[in-house]
Amino acid sequence: MRDFEAEGTDAYRLWTIADGWVERLGRDVLVSFKNQAAREGLTTEYFLWAEAMGFNAQRMFERFLPKRNQERQAPKLILGDSNIGSRSVVMERGLRFEIDFSGGYSVGLFIDQRENRSFVRKSAPKQMLNCFAYTCSFSLAAAVAGANTVSVDLSQKSLERGRANFALNDLPATGHHFIADDVFEVLPRLSRQDQKFDLIVLDPPTFSRSHRGKTFQVESDFEGLLMAALEVADRDCRILLSTNCTALNQRALEVMARFCLKASRRASSFHSEPRPVEFPPDSGASTIWLTLR
Ligand SMILES: C[S@@+](CC[C@H](N)C(=O)[O-])C[C@H]1O[C@@H](n2cnc3c(N)ncnc32)[C@H](O)[C@@H]1O
Repeated sequence: MRDFEAEGTDAYRLWTIADGWVERLGRDVLVSFKNQAAREGLTTEYFLWAEAMGFNAQRMFERFLPKRNQERQAPKLILGDSNIGSRSVVMERGLRFEIDFSGGYSVGLFIDQRENRSFVRKSAPKQMLNCFAYTCSFSLAAAVAGANTVSVDLSQKSLERGRANFALNDLPATGHHFIADDVFEVLPRLSRQDQKFDLIVLDPPTFSRSHRGKTFQVESDFEGLLMAALEVADRDCRILLSTNCTALNQRALEVMARFCLKASRRASSFHSEPRPVEFPPDSGASTIWLTLR
């Protein structure tokens, strides 16, 4: 088993290969694959490992990784009791997150952001803004360190799961706001209200379409997003830029950020948290932190 299991973490990748990966999610296992060869190879490898380690998974799920988003499907149960509910709880460094295997293609927690969540916690912000919040894992990391949080996502359903994660960790509902709306509409609104944040997470999808039909394409629109976020960034604000778009690596994010900082007459230092140990280079999201000064 991995070393970090001792830190109260039971959600991590067992392997990543070019065409797939295997995740342990508490007592369950999820195999994600791009093709049949990867599916067979990863499953065989998993069973050999489980036998050697004496790990007895409660259930095993699998999920095809299609090229097109429209073909994405929720994971399928391939081994274990189908009468157990689709939900379970995993731990990450003592924080609890609900996983839902029937809630869609993604199950509720992006493991590759583990070190960034820890950095949020270590930073102990006072006012945190989580854009594209999904199930609010970053908000939770800030809240447990004492922050007030604002979580914004188009999906009311995802934010409900975020609220459930707060309850799961016995965090009070006061001081935490959940806004089901388009980030591009919310940011100017927060700016007009003169709201300021000392930590902002910008983790947009590669492509999205809002309820009003407005499209977002990360390669062309990240710059506008950061410019709008800078309007609500306090003097010493920390801003996380994150993307899964393979065309935007860490260097490209930094170049884009430098351009925006210059245009808004702000200065910043840059750093990246280490990639989680089980993620080889070029896997997982590209991420960079800005610390304004
Ligand atoms: C990549 S996920 C974010 C993952 C999240 N940061 C985490 O670590 O768990 C992208 C999220 O962005 C939301 N989204 C997409 N377009 C949006 C928009 N224009 N405004 C607000 N949320 C949006 C989606 O509903 C989805 O939950």
